[in-house]
Amino acid sequence: MFIAFEGGEGAGKSTQEALLAASLADLGHRVVRTREPGGTPAGEAIRHVVLSPEFEGLEPRAEALLFAAARGEHAARVIRPALERGDVVICDRYIDSSVAYQGLGRDLGTKRVRDLSMWATGDLLPDLTIVLDVNPEVGLARLSNRDRLEAEPLLYHQRVRNAFLLIAADEPDRYLVLDATLGVAVLAAAILERVLAELDGR
Ligand code: TYD
Repeated sequence: MFIAFEGGEGAGKSTQEALLAASLADLGHRVVRTREPGGTPAGEAIRHVVLSPEFEGLEPRAEALLFAAARGEHAARVIRPALERGDVVICDRYIDSSVAYQGLGRDLGTKRVRDLSMWATGDLLPDLTIVLDVNPEVGLARLSNRDRLEAEPLLYHQRVRNAFLLIAADEPDRYLVLDATLGVAVLAAAILERVLAELDGR
């Protein structure tokens, strides 16, 4: 099973990913935790280029291509092999981050950006995506220092937030949207319940 976590900055994705991974491991599942951009040596190198404030002003189309390139490598070398072994893959961000941050945030067009990642990954989509929804004013205030994208203005992050909500509303079967301001334990229980229901159905 392929599970992606999405959401704005400071939504608490990493905490929930760690808790879900631990619960699934306790139940005897083999779990692979990974993240985007990154997950492979080339992907981590691309991560540096897209996130470092050193490259401020990176051309939006170049940015979209770099995220897609990292994703293509990640899908082929990490996610697909893990799924073929029967592992559960928990991925921090995936295609929807590109649709939200580049497609809507940078106004590049959601369909185009989605198609680019679909091509890059050979149409690999998550079985379930958990969206941790948070008002960007709250999320950004939780960050200690900001990378290149986190440093974008509030309006940009509001567009990103709306993009995630729209994407999720389109496909309720493949998405679980949760209010990220709920308590850590409440969120973890809701996520685990949905994931176990999905695993049981297999
Ligand atoms: P993030 O996942 O927030 O990691 P960290 O917690 O280490 O900061 O950082 C990734 C950033 O990259 C985040 O601002 C969202 C952005 N991003 C995109 O703009 N497009 C993408 O396709 C992906 C995967 C991430």
